[in-house]
Amino acid sequence: RAVLDRQAAAARAADAGFVPSAERGRALFMSRPAAGKPDTPSCTSCHTTNLARTGQARAGKVIEPLAPSAVPTRLSDPATVDKWFSRNCPDVLGRDCSPAERADLVAFLIAQ
Ligand code: HEM
Repeated sequence: RAVLDRQAAAARAADAGFVPSAERGRALFMSRPAAGKPDTPSCTSCHTTNLARTGQARAGKVIEPLAPSAVPTRLSDPATVDKWFSRNCPDVLGRDCSPAERADLVAFLIAQ
């Protein structure tokens, strides 16, 4: 997929031997860094642990499932994915996700 190729290429700029890992992506997504905003300790705070189901933003707004198997447009547009990583990673991790983390997250998410 174009989005994964793009994120992986960005990560390889820092580490030529980098290979995206869906397992590392899953571990990060399911972890609870609690290093950003108090009301968003993890990705699953909003997206839940079942990516084929709807999630919920903090204000209560429904978020459609992240899984491409449920919503085919997910992870299809690089600009959209970058935009939400740039917003959601600081909320959860208190910092941006690195290129390697982004590639791992995409590898996990596109397989859902
Ligand atoms: C959208 C990942 C945490 C709320 C997205 C998208 C990705 C993503 C990849 C864009 C999907 C697409 O349409 O292609 C993540 C990751 C998170 C995280 C990896 C943890 C680091 C959160 C949190 C919230 C949240 C904590 C709530 C405050 C949203 C919303 C959208 C979105 C509102 C867009 C709504 C929509 O397109 O339906 N997220 N997210 N995310 N995320 Fe997250």
